Amino acid sequence: MTKEADTGPLEAAKRVLKHNDRRLWTVPASDIYPHQWLWDSCFIAIGLRHIDIERAKTELNSLLRGQWQNGMLPNMIFDSGSAYRRDRQLWRSWLNPYAPHDVATSGITQPPMLADAIVKVGEKLKLPQRRSWYKSMYPALVAYHEWIYGERDPHKEGLAVLLHPYESGLDNTPPWISELRKHSMPWWITLIERLHLDGLINIFRRDTRHVPPGQRMSNIEAMAYWAALRRLRRKVYNSEAILSRSLFAVEDLAFNCILIRANARLKQIAKTIGKPLPEKLLADMARTEAALEQLWDPDSGQYYYRSFVSRKLIYQTTIATLLPLYAGTIPNERAKHLVELLKHRKYFGASWPVPSIPLDSPYFDPYKYWQGPTWINTNWLILDGLDRYGFNKEVDILRARTLQLVSQKGMNEYFSPLNGQPAGTPNFSWTAALTVDLLKPS
Ligand code: GLC
Repeated sequence: MTKEADTGPLEAAKRVLKHNDRRLWTVPASDIYPHQWLWDSCFIAIGLRHIDIERAKTELNSLLRGQWQNGMLPNMIFDSGSAYRRDRQLWRSWLNPYAPHDVATSGITQPPMLADAIVKVGEKLKLPQRRSWYKSMYPALVAYHEWIYGERDPHKEGLAVLLHPYESGLDNTPPWISELRKHSMPWWITLIERLHLDGLINIFRRDTRHVPPGQRMSNIEAMAYWAALRRLRRKVYNSEAILSRSLFAVEDLAFNCILIRANARLKQIAKTIGKPLPEKLLADMARTEAALEQLWDPDSGQYYYRSFVSRKLIYQTTIATLLPLYAGTIPNERAKHLVELLKHRKYFGASWPVPSIPLDSPYFDPYKYWQGPTWINTNWLILDGLDRYGFNKEVDILRARTLQLVSQKGMNEYFSPLNGQPAGTPNFSWTAALTVDLLKPS
């Protein structure tokens, strides 16, 4: 199924999307990711809009099945099949009174790509249909943004705080790993690590049955993430209760950049349908743009993640460093500076850009998940930002290189930035969908 070369990337991408289509939603990949994921479905809808607009709408609508009564959109909605009981049991979303009754979900969220996806789908509709599309999604979208500010910005500072690295979407990105090692490593995991017993964990992992272990997070990281998840579950995913004691909570740079863009998109939707947004939400949203400045470090000339607990910046450069371009609210001078980092051979200017962490990072490994490989969704976010800032030459180059990568190497989950070697799972939905979007077939 992955032999694309003869038919070209558009047909190959369509085949992957069809293969992973579960009628009302699309799984990220059939074996390793058998459920519906929040930001995956947003990227998928952005591609599907070129192929089948009704199916793109359905993809986003299906996400609302999982919405909690408090507005939270979970990062996963589980398949109800008997094969996946263990996944549902691991999260036990039903312990929380706000969780939906008819589907099992996770208890945490993922980057708020929904507003942008709704608008991108809307762009393909004539104004009257666009309005009714926006109207149908508006209440859920407002409730979601209200939940983000209500639960995840407790000091009303404008930056959303995340409770688990899975919420970042960049699961084992170095800022989260370094926080984890500092504040949240249970003693028994440290012991397992010292005694080199971590190989035992392989029996519990689905991902390493499908993808070589060297391309996934380590067993120690996976175990620590599982322990962190259990702590959230013990508090039935109640953000206030979790935040009152946690040492492991992060103001995530990527998430907040995406939130800034999502807020702008939400305003655009409200304007198009002539519905004023709630005053309180507007005030909350207004703080975020200004608050991004708190993540800027003038000495190193970079944006960083910040620990919610210590209030200190976490000095690890990652792909998120470039995402203020996608946020779109930083001054042109700053944007120019980020573009220099993007092109610099020592940092992000790899042969097959854009690596998920800079080439000079001590964490860098070309195959290790979010610690080196090039991912198509982050390329897409950077391209979208570059385009709005008018970096046309850079857009042309990165777009062409991204399309060469998927055309030559396949619709994989990620790729080595050094030689383009495909890694992770093959037939990955957002790679396929965003390829379709970059090809702009219609
Ligand atoms: C991994 C990724 C996450 C994605 C999920 C499903 O957990 O880190 O971003 O949503 O897989 O594709």
